[in-house]
Amino acid sequence: MNTTTAATIALTATCGECEVRAAALAQQLNLPLVDNDELHSYELILFVTPERLELGETIHKAPKPIYVDFLGGSVGHRHRFGGGRGQPIAKAVGLKGGANPCVIDATAGLGRDAFLLASLGCHVTLIERSPIVAALLRDGLERAADDASVSEVIERMNLVEGDAAEVIRSLDEDNIPDVIYLDPMFPCRDKSALVKKEMRLFHHLIGPDQDSSALLEAALGKAKRRVVVKRPKSAAPLDGPKPSAEISSKTMRYDLYVTLTNKLSATQ
Ligand SMILES: C[S@@+](CC[C@H](N)C(=O)[O-])C[C@H]1O[C@@H](n2cnc3c(N)ncnc32)[C@H](O)[C@@H]1O
Repeated sequence: MNTTTAATIALTATCGECEVRAAALAQQLNLPLVDNDELHSYELILFVTPERLELGETIHKAPKPIYVDFLGGSVGHRHRFGGGRGQPIAKAVGLKGGANPCVIDATAGLGRDAFLLASLGCHVTLIERSPIVAALLRDGLERAADDASVSEVIERMNLVEGDAAEVIRSLDEDNIPDVIYLDPMFPCRDKSALVKKEMRLFHHLIGPDQDSSALLEAALGKAKRRVVVKRPKSAAPLDGPKPSAEISSKTMRYDLYVTLTNKLSATQ
């Protein structure tokens, strides 16, 4: 499982007022807390800034650090001007008419897909197993919860830190979601600038998710209505049963596994 990183990583405070927060987080994440002059001894750095938590690389010409942003950037833009319930991800999850399914996003990452689904009315439980990604996500959720323009959406999002396959297997009857959504990391073959900077950083931090088929199997055993797997358009489906249907966008494909009929026939 990819709960640990192969990269060397440390944490630093970027201002005097950030030091107490940085020390607490360093202890929580079990990371060295370092000064500015030690940063280059590590490959990745978590920066505690006055505004937020950021993750950056120390290589020469490193791109700007990444952070979770539900207010501005592409996520905020998609929230304000996005395609609503007609967009492929909404169709994939089954947002027909007024339906607001309860969704588990079992591969939360930076929370963009989860935020989109919550902004369309779903209640979303986000599960993330990388403690560092979960810390970035918690920081973004806390900041957005204080902003009146998105606080209602954030109330529909609940973060759970841990391995999703284990969390899903342990769900009791009262907490079965309608939909389980998966967007695992796929092997990164393209080293060019075309690979988005956060993808590169994610690959540096956690590498590809090599146990996605086991996660799919756990999800298929629990989801009330369907499991949705987001894949690059040209990638094969995950190992396991064949998808029941697929919905494509320009660059991505959503493989759908309808589970409702399985559950009905199992109880008849
Ligand atoms: C490609 S990213 C997801 C991006 C996300 N959909 C978004 O919109 O920001 C995949 C994430 O899933 C997490 N992940 C993969 N397998 C997991 C598992 N079994 N349990 C919990 N998290 C998992 C990885 O740590 C990584 O952060």
